Amino acid sequence: MCGIVGYIGNREAFPIIINGLKRLEYRGYDSAGAALYNGNLIIKKTKGKVKDLEALFTDPKDKEGTIGIGHTRWATHGEPNDVNAHPHVSNSGNLVIVHNGIIENYDSIRQMLTSRGYTFQSDTDTEVLINLIEDVMKKENVKLGKAVQIALNEVVGAYAIVVFDKNNPDEIVLARLGSPLAVGIGKGEYFIASDASPFIEFTKDALYLEDEQMAIIKKYKEPEIRNIKDDEIIAPYIQELQISLDQIEKGGYDHFMLKEIYEQPNVLKDTMRGRVLPQKNIIKLSGIDNNLNKFLNADRIIMVGAGTSWHAGLVGEYLFEELARIPVEVEYSSEFRYRNPIIKENDIVMPISQSGETADTLAAIKLSKEKGAFIYGICNVVGSSIPRESHSGTYTHAGPEIGVASTKAFTTQVNVLTMMALKLAKEKGTISAPEFNQYLTELENIPQKINRVLENDLYIQQIAHHYKDAANFLYLGRGFNFPVALEGALKLKEISYIHAEGYPAAEMKHGPIALIDENMPVVVIATKKGQYEKVVSNIQEIKSRKGKIIAIVTEGDEQVKKLADHVIEIPETLEPLTPLLATIPLQLLSYYIAIYRGCNVDQPRNLAKSVTVE
Ligand code: M6R
Repeated sequence: MCGIVGYIGNREAFPIIINGLKRLEYRGYDSAGAALYNGNLIIKKTKGKVKDLEALFTDPKDKEGTIGIGHTRWATHGEPNDVNAHPHVSNSGNLVIVHNGIIENYDSIRQMLTSRGYTFQSDTDTEVLINLIEDVMKKENVKLGKAVQIALNEVVGAYAIVVFDKNNPDEIVLARLGSPLAVGIGKGEYFIASDASPFIEFTKDALYLEDEQMAIIKKYKEPEIRNIKDDEIIAPYIQELQISLDQIEKGGYDHFMLKEIYEQPNVLKDTMRGRVLPQKNIIKLSGIDNNLNKFLNADRIIMVGAGTSWHAGLVGEYLFEELARIPVEVEYSSEFRYRNPIIKENDIVMPISQSGETADTLAAIKLSKEKGAFIYGICNVVGSSIPRESHSGTYTHAGPEIGVASTKAFTTQVNVLTMMALKLAKEKGTISAPEFNQYLTELENIPQKINRVLENDLYIQQIAHHYKDAANFLYLGRGFNFPVALEGALKLKEISYIHAEGYPAAEMKHGPIALIDENMPVVVIATKKGQYEKVVSNIQEIKSRKGKIIAIVTEGDEQVKKLADHVIEIPETLEPLTPLLATIPLQLLSYYIAIYRGCNVDQPRNLAKSVTVE
């Protein structure tokens, strides 16, 4: 995690660094810091948010300088405090660094450096790294770039780093292994950041460092990119950025999360644009078309992911098995990577990820590749590591998701999985042509049906107000709605800090029912179709134990209305498409409960948007 920014050019670096850090705060917000050079090396850092850092720059002189680096931290080594905040400086006071990642062998390097007379102010692995670089520079009598390269060949771990030397402020050095790093290319100036959002208003041209690459960047010169291991020179590959400024701003909403919930009708249209074509009765997905035989001959699909993406995988399991009759397993990537899984030749491994940078999911891909599997990635962030490491895949086209709690990322992942399952069902003949056409037509209706769900906003606010002080919540659903229950519970716990659990409704009797009393709100997804009558029985069981019932029902439902304390209606749809609608009220419910509890919904405590460390 952590967000890093750098600038070298002719503009004032300060506003670029501060605004860039604000855009990267979703990556971590335990502490923030910046270093600028304007004849003097100015370093300011603090526990807390970027606005706290900004407030430290009271003297306008401190804001001067055309080279700078900045950092917003999600703490790994060392508690979040001022001293552990980045940037870190070498013992000579010349070199300064920001780092995203973990240096695993930092302790032995620290001991070695201590024996050579180095001292350390912080508990961080990063301060060890910058002193290792300094030590190499001195010992080997080499320039900064070479010293960075030699030092990085001695470290074990993951990193994206940006470093400069105050004695040579016309040059900045960066490197990556396992943590992302983008370089925006202006006219003689360069912007460096964990993603492209900090420099989107300055340039559309960007290059992304690959793992084990470093770059030496000087004003008005071509960047010099090298492989860290073998020193090979790499020609820069410059891409045109597809994101725009309004996509990464709040656009009048109080929070990114609310904006992203409301964006869902439009982003689902984007996900389906040019792909779902009911008039021609086809779904076009080039990733599948190009690898059709692999999919048709697959013995099994193994979906891997974390958090919300894992929940999307669970919906995928129901979809692929029900529609295309392809066996699916869904695994937490963190478990999969360490349990020596059996992967056979005809298995397809399908990583699912919003960010495309989740460390465990990347490790799961690496392991599966070693075992010879075909990797089909489902990802939102274009050009991120997971699609680059996959053999093929499908982008979700959700646009930038800034709120730490995933909302539109989930529904677009489910949408992609639905399209894939339907396409394969058609190819395999497991559904008829008219059925297929009915699905396509209904898929096209989903965005406007989501708009109808969003019309319940005010009512959901009232429900949220009613339950804002609850200590626990249960979420229940069956079939396609079981993963929706898990996702609803995750959303509530991560942003409101209320303990919440999701269960398959029938599992309630095997334990969780013991928790139910008049203080327990239970959210039940009780839409028509599927095992509706059985869910109604589960609701009766909750009611007879005085639990409070918030039910998500199909429009016009009368049966559940009589039993539940609150009902939220969603439009009728085909059963496999229900998650695309049933998820929406649960997102709004969590959002408003968190707001009533005074929580920071976009930046919940202890979390970060992308988990690029184990
Ligand atoms: O970027 P990814 O989809 O790989 O991230 C996976 C999880 O970290 C993520 O879904 C997390 O659980 C969200 N905060 C959930 O809202």
